[in-house]
Amino acid sequence: MAKEPSFTCTACNAATTKWSGRCDTCDAWNTIEEVKPLSNGPKSKKSIGSGRGKQITLTDLATLEPEPPRTLSGVGELDRTLGGGLVKASAILVGGDPGIGKSTLLLQAAARFARNGLKVLYVSGEESAAQIQMRARRLGLTESPVKLASETNLRDILTTLEAEKPDFVIIDSIQTMWLDTVEAAPGSVSQVRSAAHELTTFAKTNGIAVVLVGHVTKDGQIAGPRVVEHMVDTVLYFEGERGHQFRILRAVKNRFGPADEIGVFEMTGKGLAEVKNPSAMFLSERGDPAPGSVVFAGIEGSRPMLCEFQALVAPSPHSQPRRTVVGWDGSRLAMILAVLESRAGVPFTGLDVYLNVAGGLRVTEPAADLAVAAALISAREDAALPKDCVVFGEISLSGGLRPAPQTENRLKEASKLGFTSAITPVRAKRGGVSGVELREMNTLLHFVEQVF
Ligand code: TYD
Ligand code: MG
Repeated sequence: MAKEPSFTCTACNAATTKWSGRCDTCDAWNTIEEVKPLSNGPKSKKSIGSGRGKQITLTDLATLEPEPPRTLSGVGELDRTLGGGLVKASAILVGGDPGIGKSTLLLQAAARFARNGLKVLYVSGEESAAQIQMRARRLGLTESPVKLASETNLRDILTTLEAEKPDFVIIDSIQTMWLDTVEAAPGSVSQVRSAAHELTTFAKTNGIAVVLVGHVTKDGQIAGPRVVEHMVDTVLYFEGERGHQFRILRAVKNRFGPADEIGVFEMTGKGLAEVKNPSAMFLSERGDPAPGSVVFAGIEGSRPMLCEFQALVAPSPHSQPRRTVVGWDGSRLAMILAVLESRAGVPFTGLDVYLNVAGGLRVTEPAADLAVAAALISAREDAALPKDCVVFGEISLSGGLRPAPQTENRLKEASKLGFTSAITPVRAKRGGVSGVELREMNTLLHFVEQVF
């Protein structure tokens, strides 16, 4: 029976049954590509067998292994992001912009895991063995027992894996791998999906942990890592701003640990170094109190982290004033501006607004609302907040303030970094941290009246 061809948009991932020049979902041009069905893998498996579809009750599972075995790399930031170490027979996707440091991170991780007793194979489809060796020399890892291979043909790679039986394999990158059973160019949606499927299935059945490296591409020409996100157990994104040295490894999906966990690294001349105290790093360039600058006590994953919001407000020469945000959500900024205007009487009509998170960090927490509002008002009024003050809390559309989760952890981190006061929403549960004076507010209006 002939299979119906299906098509997918490389920009937004939408599926359609027919090809067209323009994607109906995201309106992008020339992004629709045919997706061939996944290859059948090793042939000759019977489609009907006694074990297929066998049912099992949850209580039976108790007799299976209770917790998957894990191996630690010894790099705390990496182990935590993985959810407490590397899990056997798991598939991990590490995505990120080209040049952000994925290969560097994984070569360092490979060396660490190899030193801790795992048999590690690093397969590069982008660099020759000599180039990887040069990188290893720069990273001071030439003594590590990591096996290297420079290969793109997946059949050859699987044969090697079958023979070598490593514990941990890194495929750098999934976009360079190709299967001879799939008629499409390497990097196309069909090839990326099929290669990822083959590798993850092979890894699971043979008890190998596999990392797939995926480049994020903005133009959608090459299938991005998003097409394999659902096939793997863990999805990590490696982020950072060009021009900044620090990098963040962020777990966006993790079957073996909490999602949203992050690891912070710094790119140095000798590879990536762990950043053990990120708050101190993000605040390191802060000078004297300036209008528009506010320190936010946030929580990233399981730990508190302080960072600085900076706002600039200036009369606009445009009929439609500018709203520019770096490191925070643009629509959330629009919401805060609207609430400030309607509920607190602070209009921004005719004013350009720029908002930036210092150091290139990306903040996603709603608890940053009050810090953003504070930065905006401070910039507009040209009045600085006290130097030793942190701000956090969520703002509702009514102009009310809602307490943020883990208030005490935030206060403790603030105290650790020498802050002596905190502006927060009123909480039902009292209690603070010694050394940090709490200034609790009920509403945004109350906040504007009290602080400015
Ligand atoms: P790389 O790991 O090759 O990026 P990716 O695999 O994500 O494409 O990192 C490339 C950048 O990192 C490159 O611009 C040089 C820089 N770098 C350092 O600053 N220090 C180092 O020790 C190494 C190995 C790379
Ligand atoms: Mg690379």
